Amino acid sequence: MDSSSDIDLHKLPQHVAVIMDGNGRWAQKHGKARVYGHQHGVESVRQITEAAAEMGIPYLSLYAFSTENWNRPAYEVTALMTLLVQTIKNEIETLQKNQIRLQAVGNLDRLPRATHRALERAIEQTQHNDRMTLILALNYSGKWDITQAMQALQASGADVTQDALEQHLSTAQWPDPELMIRTSGELRISNFFLWQLAYAELYFTDVMWPDFRKDHFKQAIVDFQKRQRRFGKTGEQVS
Ligand code: IPE
Ligand code: IPE
Ligand code: MG
Repeated sequence: MDSSSDIDLHKLPQHVAVIMDGNGRWAQKHGKARVYGHQHGVESVRQITEAAAEMGIPYLSLYAFSTENWNRPAYEVTALMTLLVQTIKNEIETLQKNQIRLQAVGNLDRLPRATHRALERAIEQTQHNDRMTLILALNYSGKWDITQAMQALQASGADVTQDALEQHLSTAQWPDPELMIRTSGELRISNFFLWQLAYAELYFTDVMWPDFRKDHFKQAIVDFQKRQRRFGKTGEQVS
């Protein structure tokens, strides 16, 4: 099914955030080790990045590794970090070709050196691209972000206000996500953008991340466009 024709290009979310979930279960369903699912998830990253750029969505965030994911077996963490370095290196050319700027958010200093370095290099190389910004959330958690913002604010000596706190969040330079998509049927936020998702539309699908394709993404956009965003007002006020 092709949903492209149902999308109103004038009503696109400016920022879409995705919790890419279900890699492990997808692999197990295919009788393979969990890492096999992560490897296949890379193709979904490619497709969804391309779909968002083609549509004209300015910001796409992908939750790739949470603070809590360090609690997985060491070999899985190592495999994920290795896959990350490989993927970043392999994809730079495509990012350049498609004019996509790579950015990252999270406690990046705590990533393995090779991962951090590959990431920094890709961010630098793609910094002048202006078609879309792709934000990887790595070693990220919403509670970490709010805590580091509070600490920075306190160190600056400024008054604690909502605006001031917001300016110190690691996402301050980007608009808040208007749509959050989570794959694999789980109905939770898992410590992702806690503050930033305050008024996001939430979209959950049973499709596992390695099966998630452009048309699934387009269906989420179509669904988003059918919703009435009221921001506390009445339906009459906003229609
Ligand atoms: C998402 O898939 C990828 C990461 C969290 C890094 P999972 O690995 O969480 O897959 P499931 O949820 O166990 O199926
Ligand atoms: C959330 O997925 C983190 C990422 C997608 C990177 P998890 O699979 O780790 O979430 P929980 O632990 O099941 O909530
Ligand atoms: Mg999971």
